[in-house]
Amino acid sequence: PQPRVIITAPVPADLREQLAAQCEIIDVPTGAGLADALPKEQLDSIEGVVCTVRSKFDTAVFDALPRLRVVSNFAVGYDNINIPEATKRNVLVCNTPKVLDGAVADLTFGLLICLARDLVRGDAHVRSGAWAEKGAPALTQDIRGKTLGLLGMGRIGRVVAETAKAFNMKVIYHNRNRDAEAESLGFAEYRDRDALFAESDFLSIHVPLTPETRHSVGAKEFAAMKPTAYLINTSRGPVVDEAALIDALKAGRIAGAGLDVMEQEPLPASSPLCALPNVVLQAHVGSATVETRRAMIDLAVRNLLDALSGTRPQAMVNPEVWAGASETTNA
Ligand code: GLV
Ligand code: GLV
Repeated sequence: PQPRVIITAPVPADLREQLAAQCEIIDVPTGAGLADALPKEQLDSIEGVVCTVRSKFDTAVFDALPRLRVVSNFAVGYDNINIPEATKRNVLVCNTPKVLDGAVADLTFGLLICLARDLVRGDAHVRSGAWAEKGAPALTQDIRGKTLGLLGMGRIGRVVAETAKAFNMKVIYHNRNRDAEAESLGFAEYRDRDALFAESDFLSIHVPLTPETRHSVGAKEFAAMKPTAYLINTSRGPVVDEAALIDALKAGRIAGAGLDVMEQEPLPASSPLCALPNVVLQAHVGSATVETRRAMIDLAVRNLLDALSGTRPQAMVNPEVWAGASETTNA
């Protein structure tokens, strides 16, 4: 019989046909709790999942899926999955790195330019007739010559650094591990963490959400930043202590923020962030372009089919599970 798989991510029709030729597909709406979405006899037989970051994989979900072999995440970030627990149970976890780097970097720059040039308020100024009534809006800020600080220098951080060169920005970064190649290619200069926050005119976050990074940007960091500096976050909301950010924005300790991610998503309109004039908000759309989402779902489905059929998948989060399985097979 064909392996049974749960799909919670949007799969285009042509790709779905390929998938259906090799698997029995069970659709579950994105965001539904996997452990109680299906009757137990179906859960018992599930071998694979293609899911969005809204599907949580904790101990209870792994318990509910005893035959699970592969979770293919339709995202590069995998903070929705308890990786040590997956590894312990020999569940391979795959993700979609690289194909979204450009789109996320582009959105980072979109937010940066919106903040520096006050584009959202500028648009309202024209539409409301204020241009004719009150004249031109207030002057804004140059981007060229300013310092962009990157917290995190993974693949996305690197593409943001490359892009910043075209804007003639000075790029500095802090990362757990230094990136000798990025430094020698002239993409970015290393700074210790304190210096990164103190020197940046724009501080952009490109770290994954982990227990170590959760709330790692908070009151202390905002106090260290320049009052003219902007924060940009296209990574994961909980990396930032949002209550501390709101305080800093209200008190003018920093100039503004561009946020694609928040602690609670979807962000309720009642959030104080929605009432702050110096904030630009987006609905977690860093990778949400037609081309990038297609490349991501292609990769996520390929990762699943490869894993189920015994071909080494392109993008594994816990490759030790794969290595263990192929040793057993070869023995
Ligand atoms: C989206 O947030 C991703 O991690 O790909
Ligand atoms: C994250 O995985 C990145 O590629 O920066």
